[in-house]
Amino acid sequence: MSIIVDVQDLTKRYGDLLAVNKVSFTIEQGEIFGFLGPNGAGKTTCLEIMEGLRKPDGGQVLLKGQSVWPDPKKVKNLIGVQLQSTSFYEELTVKEILVLFASLYGRKLSGLQLDSLLSMAGLEEKRNAYTNSLSGGQKQRLAIITALVNEPEIIFLDEPTTGLDPQARRRSWEIIQELQSKGKTIILTTHYMEEAENLCERVAIIDQGKIVAIDQPQKLIDQLGKKAKISFASTRPLESLFLAKLGAEAGQVNSGEGHVIFANDPAQAIGVLLEKAKQEGIIIKNLHVSSPSLDDVFLELTGKELRD
Ligand SMILES: Nc1ncnc2c1ncn2[C@@H]1O[C@H](COP(=O)(O)OP(=O)(O)O)[C@@H](O)[C@H]1O
Ligand SMILES: [Mg+2]
Repeated sequence: MSIIVDVQDLTKRYGDLLAVNKVSFTIEQGEIFGFLGPNGAGKTTCLEIMEGLRKPDGGQVLLKGQSVWPDPKKVKNLIGVQLQSTSFYEELTVKEILVLFASLYGRKLSGLQLDSLLSMAGLEEKRNAYTNSLSGGQKQRLAIITALVNEPEIIFLDEPTTGLDPQARRRSWEIIQELQSKGKTIILTTHYMEEAENLCERVAIIDQGKIVAIDQPQKLIDQLGKKAKISFASTRPLESLFLAKLGAEAGQVNSGEGHVIFANDPAQAIGVLLEKAKQEGIIIKNLHVSSPSLDDVFLELTGKELRD
């Protein structure tokens, strides 16, 4: 495998705000790489610097060994870009949009290329439809294929599935996986844990302009070092003394809306929980055991929950 994206010490300020703070990482050719983080974390800024659309204050981006800055035109034909908010000219049809985007690269789409893009996005029937008649999922898929008109090797997708229902989201994942199977390298941003976990081979968790962890989703979860997650609620609020005693015997307890125990031995932890609750006359409700997820990694690393 060879490194196709090499980012070192990327930094960007907006006035006093350090939006991107010495971000470094590399991506292998053919990877699906995800930036996962809450709104305002710096995902779009990072991506746009890599795409040559925003100038960094420091650091460097190499795409296939070629520096993006100071002359982004040199990488224009290497990359495909889907911006975070794409709004299409409503008086154009799907086909006209694709022809227009190709012309921005000085290209003329052949009938075959057009067919293949439309078929990838499942938009064959919509070729002559005006873009304002498309569903949310169809618009997002059109946005993805507009990033492909110049046959790029590296594809940037900024929140390609935000606002879509789960079914439409899965359809977009299929397109992204198809691109990967054709040897493309894909860099996307998301604030959906599920997307990062299911689609991305490696994920960089970004918070307040800094990468706080970077690895395969499962490895990040394994690094938590906890085998089971036990969630429960109680009939009356639990005192901190109770939680402290529970934590000492059963495993780490996080208390938010409900309560969560992270334990290596779930059977033992549940035993302790039920016994302590009985002693205190507390009734435990909605007891649920699951595997830890990327959500939990995020919470552990940032102290925050990632919610829409
Ligand atoms: N052009 C800009 N001028 C000033 N501040 C900006 C600008 N663009 C983004 N920011 C700020 O920089 C931070 C990172 O934004 P952004 O990169 O869009 O994050 P994300 O894509 O993760 O939501 C946010 O606090 C945002 O308000
Ligand atoms: Mg963004």
